Amino acid sequence: MITDPTERARRVQTMFGRITRRYDLMNFVMTGGRDQAWRRIAAAELALPSNALCLDLATGTADLALAVRARFPDSRVVGADFSETILRAGVAKAARKAVGGVTFAVGDALSLSFPDATFDGLVSGFLLRNVVDLRRCLRELMRVCKPGSRVVSMEITHPQTPVFRSLFALYFNHIMPVIGGVISGDYNAYKYLPTSLAAFPAAEPLKAIMQEVGFREVRYRLLGLGSMAVHVGIVPHP
Ligand SMILES: C[S@@+](CC[C@H](N)C(=O)[O-])C[C@H]1O[C@@H](n2cnc3c(N)ncnc32)[C@H](O)[C@@H]1O
Repeated sequence: MITDPTERARRVQTMFGRITRRYDLMNFVMTGGRDQAWRRIAAAELALPSNALCLDLATGTADLALAVRARFPDSRVVGADFSETILRAGVAKAARKAVGGVTFAVGDALSLSFPDATFDGLVSGFLLRNVVDLRRCLRELMRVCKPGSRVVSMEITHPQTPVFRSLFALYFNHIMPVIGGVISGDYNAYKYLPTSLAAFPAAEPLKAIMQEVGFREVRYRLLGLGSMAVHVGIVPHP
């Protein structure tokens, strides 16, 4: 197990670069085809005002950025990610689908180059589990958003129902890495997935951490039989 945060972040960065080509397919397979519906739900939770500027952080192949644009057609969305390789796939997808209003930037969620209070809303899909310092990341998300705006996180979580929890553990820890390895050709990347979830707080403790760093009115909803959590927090006024 790698304990050095810089080395861990570098590994995550290069890993997402390696699995870029099959990333969308793997998402579809792993979630039983539900991933795009979940992104639409997360996007709607932003409740953006008109002509909003929104950040999709850890945009990857840009599906969430595109879901935000589809839900709020007058918004402008910045898709940012620290892996240039996967970001290029996002740029190509937005161009292929001829979606306007989306721009892209390379950026690390722990240290973003955007000024304070830039965005009217921020969404992230499958980011928080991957960062080496969760509280620092949450504070950074809060910093770049305007007071009163919403920060929405969509992330895998630990199912709580006993029977489903056991089935999910079997699938997630043993079956999914094999399927992921076969489809992506990178067994290690999909072995990392259960490891990263094991070290990540469950939905209720994550809510508490968001409150602790200062988000207001934090709530979450569970999807996918409790295997997916969408957390929403309001950025406080100074
Ligand atoms: C599982 S992918 C999710 C992509 C996309 N949000 C989605 O909904 O499919 C996770 C993404 O997080 C990015 N990522 C992880 N840690 C990051 C960080 N510290 N800063 C920026 N991006 C990060 C990875 O490069 C990767 O593209």
